Amino acid sequence: MQSRSSSAVAATPDQLAAVDAAISRLATMRGACLPMMHAIQAELGFVPHEAVQRIADSLNLSRADVHGVLTYYHDFRSEAPGCHVLKVCRAESCQAMGSEKLEDHLCEKHGVAMGETCADGEVTVEPVYCLGNCALSPAVMLDGKVYGRVSAERLDALLQRAKKSTGGQS
Ligand code: FES
Repeated sequence: MQSRSSSAVAATPDQLAAVDAAISRLATMRGACLPMMHAIQAELGFVPHEAVQRIADSLNLSRADVHGVLTYYHDFRSEAPGCHVLKVCRAESCQAMGSEKLEDHLCEKHGVAMGETCADGEVTVEPVYCLGNCALSPAVMLDGKVYGRVSAERLDALLQRAKKSTGGQS
């Protein structure tokens, strides 16, 4: 299986409307740049490239300033994620307990590396730096739920169950 290309895709008119709605809703808030990005990502699952200039114009900031904020925080995405988002912890405890093996397994069995989405659009894999579940390392978060002591087999089972829930292939 190959991962999906990461080339930028233009936002749809509906997505741009959601961006504009979030910006106008928060335009008068102090320090609105981050809240705007959070609102857009909550609505769309990502912050489209087109949002950067729109936020900059709204807040009288430079495009570079807004881009800098967007890329500083790991949690913001610039591309639409897959149906499921898997975050693999890369912090110390999880590394010591084999999280790199989970990443290798994702590459070898599922054809998806960190920061990529499977070719079928089912799963996006992202890094995270501690999920507060260190005692049960290695830990992952799948669609917002944290799982501990995750082996390759358990990871497969979690992904299979998640894909079934959205009608994807296992
Ligand atoms: S180091 Fe992975 S959950 Fe804390």
